[in-house]
Amino acid sequence: MKLAIIGTGYVGLTTGTCLAELGHQVTCIDNDPEKLEKLKKSESPIFEPGLEELMVKNTQSGRLTFSDQIATAVKDSEVIFICVNTPPKNDGHADLKYVEQVAREIAQAINSDYKVIVDKSTVPVKTAEKVRETILRYSVDEAKFDVVSNPEFLREGSAVKDTLEPDRIVIGVDDDKAKKKMLAVYQPLIDKTQAPVKIVSVKSAELIKHGANTFLATKISFANLIAKTCEEAGADALEVLEAIGLDTRIGNQFLNPGIGFGGSCFPKDIAAYKKTLEVLDIDSSLVDAVEKINQQATDDFVHKIEKELWVLDGKQIGILGLSFKPNTDDIRNSPAIKVIEKLKKDGAKIRAYDPEAMENAKKVITGIEYDTDPYKIAKKAEALIICTEWDEFKKLDLTKIKELMSTPVIFDGRNIFDPKKVKALDFKYFGIGR
Ligand code: UDX
Ligand code: UDX
Repeated sequence: MKLAIIGTGYVGLTTGTCLAELGHQVTCIDNDPEKLEKLKKSESPIFEPGLEELMVKNTQSGRLTFSDQIATAVKDSEVIFICVNTPPKNDGHADLKYVEQVAREIAQAINSDYKVIVDKSTVPVKTAEKVRETILRYSVDEAKFDVVSNPEFLREGSAVKDTLEPDRIVIGVDDDKAKKKMLAVYQPLIDKTQAPVKIVSVKSAELIKHGANTFLATKISFANLIAKTCEEAGADALEVLEAIGLDTRIGNQFLNPGIGFGGSCFPKDIAAYKKTLEVLDIDSSLVDAVEKINQQATDDFVHKIEKELWVLDGKQIGILGLSFKPNTDDIRNSPAIKVIEKLKKDGAKIRAYDPEAMENAKKVITGIEYDTDPYKIAKKAEALIICTEWDEFKKLDLTKIKELMSTPVIFDGRNIFDPKKVKALDFKYFGIGR
């Protein structure tokens, strides 16, 4: 099938590349000239395991192309995926100006061939309705089209795998013709993976995405609450949460306590879901608590550091990990940034390292030094702080680290080390809930 992807960011690029891999003819559109230049050379503008290889393969086969010509792509395609960003406004509402802009551009390019317009970006319930109204308002031709919702559930760092081996495919569609088109798009993936397909109403699909992300964030905040209880009571959060997660009704994924969740999705989607609750006059205290505990997780971590090191002014502190999670170069809403900003205010001298996110970090976090490997970060440091659980950090030679440090103190914000082993090496060690 001929498909168009509008917005070639984390979601659009992964979706477009994977749909080409499934055999479709895909045109990816973006209005950022710098990004397009890279994409046309089959270079991925983001670090995402396995993505660039698939881009190269599908570009060479002619199934994947990149362009800024939205009108041509709309005219040529049967199904058009809207994948532009939906950032939060100051009041928490999702800012849908890019979605509206793209809907208008689609409307002006649409011809009399039947089109399916797909909301792939995470949007509040009833957005598809607005997209439909917008297209009707700005259409030149007598448009024949349907708007469907097809949320993605990919995680950064495992985006390709999540797309090609999905837990489920959700298609929100209120019309039979559009349903047949969407099933045809996904048929190769369904045949290959036997992934369950949920055909639901458009509004249900929109709510499934916000519901899933809010539930996952709730699980993480719950784990952080248990971790705090363990710290105060003298129990071990990992033992407690592992045993809780063995109950198959609960499951052990997304129960890792830490310094809080970040990224471009959870904080934004929770804020947007809260606005939906407000609009529908529904109490949001459960979601308020999830946000509050998340903020506390970062604050408590910083307090722990301040309490142990006492005066931070002039102290050399090493930071390992800047991305909001491992296997990505993305630093959007990374808890590491919040930790660094607070320690900077206390006057600490900070040196930081991340395997992939340093270029992005340098644009946002100034007034600190960066270095090229963890051992250089440890040199003369009075404390080492783990903010992201990269595998590279789990394999560090701690004996060497201890020799390099000025005073051997580790604040492990992601519980990557075994406290017993680290303490046996004479480190002073602080984990989360341990
Ligand atoms: C986006 C949404 O923000 C998010 O809600 C959803 O869950 C997934 O899609 P992401 O892919 O991470 O997230 O966004 P981003 O990496 O910012 O990519 C958006 C792309 O759209 C950018 O490359 C941008 O240049 C492009 N864009 C934006 C357009 O081509 N046209 C526009 O009008 C606006
Ligand atoms: C999330 C959803 O998982 C995905 O389905 C959706 O499509 C987009 O939003 P993403 O933000 O890429 O994906 O990463 P995710 O793995 O969910 O991690 C989000 C944050 O939660 C990270 O900061 C991570 O460190 C944190 N986290 C995750 C925890 O603190 N504990 C956990 O147990 C899991």
